Amino acid sequence: MVAEKRIDPTDGQAYTYNELLGFYKGQYSKQETAAYWETLRAAKGKGKESAAPKVKAKAKVKAKAEPKVEPKAKAKVKAKAKSKAKAKVEAAGNFKVCVIGGAGGIGQPLSMLMALDPNVKELSVVDLNVAAVPPAGVAADLGHLEKKSKVVGYVYDVGEKAVDKLEEALTGCNIVLIPAGMPRKPGQSRDDLFKVNADIAKGLVSACAKFCPDAILLLVVNPVNSVVPAMAELYKKKGLDPLKIVGVTTLDVVRANKFVGEVLGKNPNFINVPVIGGHAGTTIMPVFSQDKVASNIDKDKIPDLDKKVQDAGTEVVSAKGGKGSATLSMAYAGARLAKSVLAGLMGRKRTECAYVASTVTDLPYFASKVQFGEGGVSKVLPIGELNEYETTRLNEAKDQLKKEIDSGLEYAKSNELEG
Ligand code: NAD
Ligand code: LMR
Repeated sequence: MVAEKRIDPTDGQAYTYNELLGFYKGQYSKQETAAYWETLRAAKGKGKESAAPKVKAKAKVKAKAEPKVEPKAKAKVKAKAKSKAKAKVEAAGNFKVCVIGGAGGIGQPLSMLMALDPNVKELSVVDLNVAAVPPAGVAADLGHLEKKSKVVGYVYDVGEKAVDKLEEALTGCNIVLIPAGMPRKPGQSRDDLFKVNADIAKGLVSACAKFCPDAILLLVVNPVNSVVPAMAELYKKKGLDPLKIVGVTTLDVVRANKFVGEVLGKNPNFINVPVIGGHAGTTIMPVFSQDKVASNIDKDKIPDLDKKVQDAGTEVVSAKGGKGSATLSMAYAGARLAKSVLAGLMGRKRTECAYVASTVTDLPYFASKVQFGEGGVSKVLPIGELNEYETTRLNEAKDQLKKEIDSGLEYAKSNELEG
């Protein structure tokens, strides 16, 4: 058994038992890794196995760079894993991802993080001919990273339709990240961006509906609260699954974790505050009581901390003085979500907060914990227990959110996807 190699679906590479033990040393116990080993498929003959001889030398790097895996959880699903192993293994290390708006403020660092991901085989970087940098330049630059991903730039002209131009960029994509759209300037609300950004999103979502209808679309573009319902309803009208449209609210969670860490002097890596509701003003609702670290914060500090999370985007907009909004932290957050979605597609379920079609409240769209699995969104999880402060906040959040959802629903009524 010692010499036998098995495929780790995290990166599609083949490892011996001892190599696997070495990789996960310090991260998981020997028993956990042994249980994980039992769930892996033997490497024989073709495909990924050809990469196996390189693996040993890379062992240490991998141990540091890999996203966390859960051998324990894996062991539990052993029986299930067997029947689905083929599809999962094919997908691992083999994904195609597209970033639209990929030459923009968020798009460039986000493209970089995705190009670095060991599970990304191909990355399309799409932007317009008026972008600050040609997408072919971003692709050429990222194409020199010593990673396996192939990065291809695609450009089209203002006035052309995405649905006529993006066939090659989108065909075969598993995930499409969409930060294409206008950012806020000081004094603007996210809602002020609705008309212009919804029209941009409609063109792009039309192209996705045509060329990669099974892909998970991660919409970063603001206002998330209205653009996501608009696009999900347009998907529905077209007979497609509205749960393929996912609003990215991860940055709110990232911020809440960071701010809680600062208040308590703790490492934010061990904090995970769910942020529910939506992604604007009072709709951004951190649920501090549900995180075991954050729940230690004095009650009287919570309202200020809550407001700090709500206002964090505006803080960046002001600090950038009219030259954009959050880009680097957003790229980090977008990549965090995309990695969880990829893990889910490989059969390793992950839970992240996201804004999706929902029945967890009486509103048709809501951000809450969402479980990502093989087909993308596999479960939209309930809000869970709230304390008194949070219960009041939920009502406030829902009042604002309802209006913003309604704008999106109106948009969908009077529009159709193209193509
Ligand atoms: P940016 O202006 O720097 O980049 C946007 C890019 O999109 C540009 O390169 C532009 O050419 C491109 N683009 C516009 N229309 C396009 C189209 N039809 N096809 C292809 N590309 C197109 O802006 P940014 O700072 O990257 O922000 C992008 C969006 O993300 C904004 O709407 C912003 O409000 C939003 N945002 C959301 C969050 C969040 O948490 N969800 C966080 C930060 C920013
Ligand atoms: C953010 O939260 O940083 C983004 O939504 C951008 C913005 O306009 O604040």
